[in-house]
Amino acid sequence: MSGSLILGVESSCDETGVAFVRGNELLGDVVASSVDEHARFGGVVPEVASRAHLEALVPTIRRACEETGHRLADVDAIAVTSGPGLAGALMVGVSAAKALSWALDKPLYGVNHLAAHVCADVLDHGPLPEPTVALLVSGGHTNLLLVRDIASDVVELGSTIDDAAGEAFDKVARVLELPYPGGPHIERAAATGDPQAIRFPRGLTARKDLDKHRFDYSFSGLKTAVVRWVQERQLAGEPVPVADVAASFNEAVADVLTAKAIDACRTYGITDLQIGGGVTANSRLRALAEERCAEAGISLRVPRVRLCTDNGAMVAALGSQMVQRGLPPSSLDLPADSSMP
Ligand code: KG4
Ligand code: ZN
Repeated sequence: MSGSLILGVESSCDETGVAFVRGNELLGDVVASSVDEHARFGGVVPEVASRAHLEALVPTIRRACEETGHRLADVDAIAVTSGPGLAGALMVGVSAAKALSWALDKPLYGVNHLAAHVCADVLDHGPLPEPTVALLVSGGHTNLLLVRDIASDVVELGSTIDDAAGEAFDKVARVLELPYPGGPHIERAAATGDPQAIRFPRGLTARKDLDKHRFDYSFSGLKTAVVRWVQERQLAGEPVPVADVAASFNEAVADVLTAKAIDACRTYGITDLQIGGGVTANSRLRALAEERCAEAGISLRVPRVRLCTDNGAMVAALGSQMVQRGLPPSSLDLPADSSMP
């Protein structure tokens, strides 16, 4: 095996992730999630997340060492998510990574969480084609990115102007009285529904919006449309066809996400599209992206579902790219930057 051994630490939201990567090879990846603790609040509670990271981090590092047979002393560099994310949650991972860097006398690399999501795919499909357009869809983010160099040159083409796509799944699930996190439950309900039953709006696709928001997304209008549609049924004393609502909502999200991503590829003359983030688990999104990319002559890369959600592997993968590309390490003053672009 060649390449430096990178330890990756992720703690930006509700998953404590620790992984070992060498070169582009994933050696081991352990994730401890506090998602169940947030479920009764219907969303991530920052204080609860920070405390959970604090409790989980050391045992998670131990488990990653046990599962890979690696000792901390073998590590060549430490990569950690330094932003964006929840300030208190980030601080736990960043502090631990600094302590490891200092104690082991190994370089520290602060990485951007969004770039790390894109980089996860390297572990499944090898070096990323550059330039590539990347669509990142999670509970906290919805971004279209132009990636010229994953370690140093990532430009945002557009993002959501209100809710993230995953957030929309979670909110609509609540309206349909499905559990949190809503994405998988909506997907399950949608399986028996008709995606064409209700025509829900596709945000920022009207001609008047395209000048200013061509590559931006908006999901709050879609959520409101679903709420209104359901309430009208309830007021009329009619049953709510949950499967049809879920399928039509899921279709609207998958449609607008893929349409704008492909428009970005065409506009910038790029023939590679990469999709990542927790919402990528959605099978309709994957299928529609495959179908439309095939039609447009764009080659699509989507990592396995486990690498789409938050984990330490993607952080280690990006750290490994920074090492391979000779980027300078971060100093021990590295801040936890919750609003990092
Ligand atoms: O990337 P992720 O694990 O965490 C961050 O938000 O960073 O994404 C979680 C989000 C949640 O909003 C969840 O509802 C959504 O991803 N999600 C899905 C599916 N699985 C998870 N959304 C749609 N379909 C799914 N199958
Ligand atoms: Zn994420």
